[in-house]
Amino acid sequence: MKTYLVTGGAGFIGSNFVLYMLNKYNDVKIVNLDALTYAGNLENLKEVENNPNHVFVQGDICDQELVTKLFDDYKFDYVVNFAAESHVDRSIREPEVFAKTNVMGTVNLLNCAKNAWYTEENGWLDGVKYLQVSTDEVYGSLGDTGYFMETTPLDPHSPYSASKAGADFMVKAYGDTFKMPINITRCSNNYGPYQFPEKLIPLLINNCLQHKDLPIYGDGLNVRDWLYVEDHCKAIDMVVRQGVLGEVYNVGGHNERTNLQIVKKVISYIGENVDKEVTENLMKFVEDRKGHDRRYGIAPDKIKADLGWYPETTFEVGIEKTIKWYLDNKEWMNNVTSGDYQKYYSKMYK
Ligand code: NAD
Ligand code: DAU
Repeated sequence: MKTYLVTGGAGFIGSNFVLYMLNKYNDVKIVNLDALTYAGNLENLKEVENNPNHVFVQGDICDQELVTKLFDDYKFDYVVNFAAESHVDRSIREPEVFAKTNVMGTVNLLNCAKNAWYTEENGWLDGVKYLQVSTDEVYGSLGDTGYFMETTPLDPHSPYSASKAGADFMVKAYGDTFKMPINITRCSNNYGPYQFPEKLIPLLINNCLQHKDLPIYGDGLNVRDWLYVEDHCKAIDMVVRQGVLGEVYNVGGHNERTNLQIVKKVISYIGENVDKEVTENLMKFVEDRKGHDRRYGIAPDKIKADLGWYPETTFEVGIEKTIKWYLDNKEWMNNVTSGDYQKYYSKMYK
C-alpha cells in the first residue's frame, strides 16, 4: 500500500486525480488536504466519500503544525502538490494570496517532507518522492512557432505564473541543495469535469445555457494548448511511479486552438444539440487581460520517450464529453455559481 498526501484534491485537477487513482488502484491510500477555498468543492469527491482509502482533511498547506502531524500520522510515501490559487485573472486583482499559497505553501510542504523523510544519519528514506504540479505558464509566451521544452528558460508574466515559477525554483533548490527526491510536471491547459466556471471552457458552457454574453479577451486569437484532464492525471501517476528523480516533465497533447475556435466550438455544439437560440450573437469582444500571454504550446517529447505517456483523448472527443458532463450536472454548476460567484463575475465583466 502506497500512501499519498494529495493537496488541493477538492479542486478541478486534484479531484479528478483522486478519482482516477482510487478507480485504478486498490493498494493506494490518499490523504487529501484541501483548504476548501472558493475553488474547492467536496461535491467533486462524492464518489469516494465512503472509500476507506480516501481521507479528507480540511486545512491549509501553509499550516506547519497540521502538515507535520499528517506526516507523523500517515507516514507518506509521496506528496503530490496540486493546492494553489490557479486563476490568472484573480492573480492580477489580488497577487498576495498567490504568493502565500503557491510559494510559501510549497515551501512549507517541502520542509515538512524533509523533516519527515530525511535524517543526517541515514539520509533520505527509500522510495519517497515530492511531486510539484506546475504549469506551462512558467515558460512565458511563444511567438507563432516553436514549443516549450523542459530546457526553455522560465519567463513568467502574470502574478499567478510568477508564483508558480517561484515554487518550481524552491522545489528545484530542495532537489539541488538537499538531494530531495523531487519531480516537477508542467502541463498545458486542462479541461473536463469539475472545472470552476471562471475558466474559459466551463464559463462558456454556463453562459451559453443562460444566454449570457461570451466574453472574448482582446482579438480572441491567443492560443492555448488543451489537454483532457484525465490524460494529465495519467501523466502525474506515471511521473510519481517512474519519473527519474530531479527531472522536469512537460505534459501536453499538441492541441493548440485559438480562443475564438474554442468559443465557436462550444456555441456550435450547444446550438445544434441543445438550444437553437445559442448562436454567435452571444460572442462579445471585451478588454484584453493585462499582460495576456499570446501562445502556449508544449513539447511533450520527453515524457513520451522516457515514460511512454501519450494522451488518450483527442480534443474533438474530449470537448464533447466535457460539454455533455456539464449538461448532465447542472446542479453542480448551479451550486458553484450561487453566492459569491455572482459577485465575482459582475466585478470581472462590468
Ligand atoms: P483549482 O483552483 O481548481 O483547485 C485548487 C485547489 O487548491 C482547490 O480545491 C482549493 O481549495 C485548494 N487550495 C487553495 N489554496 C489552498 C491552501 N492554502 N491549502 C490547501 N488547499 C488549497 O486548480 P486546478 O485547475 O485544479 O489546478 C491544480 C494545480 O494544477 C495547480 O497547482 C495549478 O497551478 C496546476 N495546473 C493547472 C492547470 C489547469 O489548466 N487548470 C494546468 C497546469 C497546471
Ligand atoms: O496553461 C495552463 C494554465 O491554464 C494553468 O496553469 C492555469 O491554472 C489555468 O487557469 C489556465 O490558465 P489560462 O489563463 O490559460 O486559462 P483561462 O481559462 O483563464 O483562459 C484561457 C484563455 O481564454 C486565455 O487566453 C484567456 C481567455 N479568456 C478567458 C476567460 C475566463 C477569455 O477570452 N475570456 C474569458 O472569459
